[in-house]
Amino acid sequence: MIISSSLVRRVAASLLPQRTRSHSSASTVGTPFDKLGVIGLGLMGHGIVQVAATASSSSSSSSSSNVHSEVIAYESNASYLDGGRDRILSSVERLVSRGKLTSNDAESLLSKITYTTDRDALDDADLIIEAIVEDVELKNDLFKDLGSRCKSSAIFASNTSSLCVTNMAIASGRPDKFVGIHFFNPVQLMRLVEVVRTEYTDPTVFEDVMGWVGHIGKVGVSCRDTPGFIVNRLLVPNLMQAMSLVERGDASIGDVDLSMQLGAGHPMGPLHLADYIGLDTCSFIVEGWVKDFPNDASFYVPAILKQKVERNELGRKTGKGFYHWDGDKRGDPVE
Ligand code: 3HC
Repeated sequence: MIISSSLVRRVAASLLPQRTRSHSSASTVGTPFDKLGVIGLGLMGHGIVQVAATASSSSSSSSSSNVHSEVIAYESNASYLDGGRDRILSSVERLVSRGKLTSNDAESLLSKITYTTDRDALDDADLIIEAIVEDVELKNDLFKDLGSRCKSSAIFASNTSSLCVTNMAIASGRPDKFVGIHFFNPVQLMRLVEVVRTEYTDPTVFEDVMGWVGHIGKVGVSCRDTPGFIVNRLLVPNLMQAMSLVERGDASIGDVDLSMQLGAGHPMGPLHLADYIGLDTCSFIVEGWVKDFPNDASFYVPAILKQKVERNELGRKTGKGFYHWDGDKRGDPVE
């Protein structure tokens, strides 16, 4: 009987000790990823750095104290780097001021983070997560460079929400060591992480990443490299439908949101959530799907979304979308 190498790897993975297979439970055992690199410190990246450093700090109650010895927070440019550092500092300060984190723990977690604009600092990282803008060319170029400079055992991951993971895996030159690791906004609060495997992903790599997700206190789910993975595939068409209800005049913005909160138990209504995510991001995701899957009727861009993006009414980030916004505070619906 011929036993395929992938079967051997799967069997080997199933025999791995619990530390690498524990997807959601906290543990006191380390991960295979001593040094973590995060590329891009925007909305998602800064949260990933903070969560990973928290799990690695000395008396963190929810996770082990040795998840990472160091978290490298990389940005290509100094002002973006400063912006990411400010976001982390203000989030940590808020936790301390609310009594949710001790000053010692805050100091300990911040000491785990190395901020840098020097890409060489990533060369000996064990796991590198990319969280830059959703530009396929930029991502492919980045992974090509990382593939040529980083140590051969390093695992690469993209936090992309909608782009093809397989293409990036191939660009990296090490597709067996490549996965999608998709976090949700706000990363500090949302417990789910989708771990995306391509046809090339080594099952042992996949299991190690799943184990890591549990170590940082999140719950991992597995998905193939399919548009939108699980959450966005279900969520984003739902946001588009909510926009269409408003566009047709079937229901008001406020009533659509109230309905999904009180009738379906969602923490935010779909139009509030679309503003929170950013209407440009919502539009970008669906436009990509429309282009790649023109025959899938669930992928379409409502005219009202196109208009708002054209007018730079992008939601929370520009102060106006389906609602008026004052910083992070949502105001009245836009009439
Ligand atoms: N970072 C850190 N802490 C935050 C935070 C942030 N960004 N936002 C809120 N918090 C804190 C608040 O300060 C507050 O702390 P406190 O109790 O000490 O005051 C606590 O979290 C609760 O905040 P709020 O009372 O303001 O808000 P809620 O209880 O309503 O929870 C929420 C906020 C978790 C955002 C909730 O409304 C929610 O779950 N909304 C849905 C979010 C969602 O669906 N996210 C997924 C988007 S899709 C996505 O990300 C995929 C991508 O690919 C597009």
